[in-house]
Amino acid sequence: MSDELPFIVFGAPSIGEDEIEEVVACMRSGWLGTGPRVARLEREFADYKGVGARAVAAVNSCTAALHVSMVASGLEKGAEVITTPMTFCASVNAIIHAGMKPVLADVDPATQCISPEAIEAAITPRTQAILPVHFAGRPCEMDRIMQIARKHGLLVIEDCAHAIETEFHGQKAGTFGDFGCFSFYVTKNVTTGEGGMIVGGDEELVARARVLALHGMSKDAWHRFGDKGYRHYQVVDTGFKYNMMDIQAAIGIHQLARVEANWKRREQIWDAYMSAFKDLLVVLPSAIAPDTRHGYHLFTMMIEEARCGLSRDEFLDRMNAARIGTGVHYLSIAEHPVYQELFGWRPEAWPNAHAIGQTTVSLPLSAALTEGDLDRIVTTTSGMLAN
Ligand SMILES: Cc1ncc(COP(=O)(O)O)c(C=O)c1O
Repeated sequence: MSDELPFIVFGAPSIGEDEIEEVVACMRSGWLGTGPRVARLEREFADYKGVGARAVAAVNSCTAALHVSMVASGLEKGAEVITTPMTFCASVNAIIHAGMKPVLADVDPATQCISPEAIEAAITPRTQAILPVHFAGRPCEMDRIMQIARKHGLLVIEDCAHAIETEFHGQKAGTFGDFGCFSFYVTKNVTTGEGGMIVGGDEELVARARVLALHGMSKDAWHRFGDKGYRHYQVVDTGFKYNMMDIQAAIGIHQLARVEANWKRREQIWDAYMSAFKDLLVVLPSAIAPDTRHGYHLFTMMIEEARCGLSRDEFLDRMNAARIGTGVHYLSIAEHPVYQELFGWRPEAWPNAHAIGQTTVSLPLSAALTEGDLDRIVTTTSGMLAN
């Protein structure tokens, strides 16, 4: 019977007619690559973040943003960068590709964000940067992290993949550190299909990141082939191919226009889950700290078999059988074989992240969910986990 139900896709984007029409207009315009629509998305993102137009640079992913930010910063090869074990592999891979060594500092079990005490404990004479992740959209303790960074002369690169709308003590995520790196991947709060944005406090470093994101060329294609006449370019650095296309920005411009309306909808879904599941034996997300704004990117809860009589993985299977997509964010980073081989990491060394990774599950939290979808998710989840 359940085969007849539509599958609720985890992280399905909320795409409107405006996005579709803009993509069509872009395709009819004859200019698909990096050009005026990317420039518009950059301006509007800068406005949303309350920063100057030259403080941002669009790229084709958050991974790219993290990578070029670190390269542009001029961190020394082999320097240590402290990050969290509760993140997507991209945070760690970007550190490695930039030629640095990732060092993990465990998370606070309540917020699931990197713990400032653990950061301090992980600092060595080789540490040059901290890469905190605003996990699930909840802000890290940026006052303490910035204090530690200043005390030890460290750079801060905020991984804001989950945190477009996130704020800490009235300040927007991505504007605390030297760089903030955002993701517009398909499941993210604002999507361009694939895409990302760099926000930086030092305009010169952002300009360097922008050049590095396009082969190290001094002018992008729009500035060579655009309506102002052909201009020569010079290659001034050995860069990468990380530029965003106008086709992608065409989606993002209209996504960004609805960012607050979609955030409101996800807040309603979050509140509905919190109230529907309050008597279940699952561990729900901890309360949102005063004077902070959660980005509501992921609704994660923990299913401990001993308490719930059901393992996390059984729950995932049963949700799938009920045709509801779920996610796991994340197995802790040290569970993955490549890092065990490279660095000798063992998950038990970061016990808080390890425990979360073994029990966590993410329910759909997209603004595209209908009331009917929400009812199905709540009823199915409660039915499986009722004590
Ligand atoms: C915490 C975190 N950092 C970085 C990334 C990488 O983002 P992108 O897919 O835009 O490269 C993701 C993507 O899921 C993420 O969740």
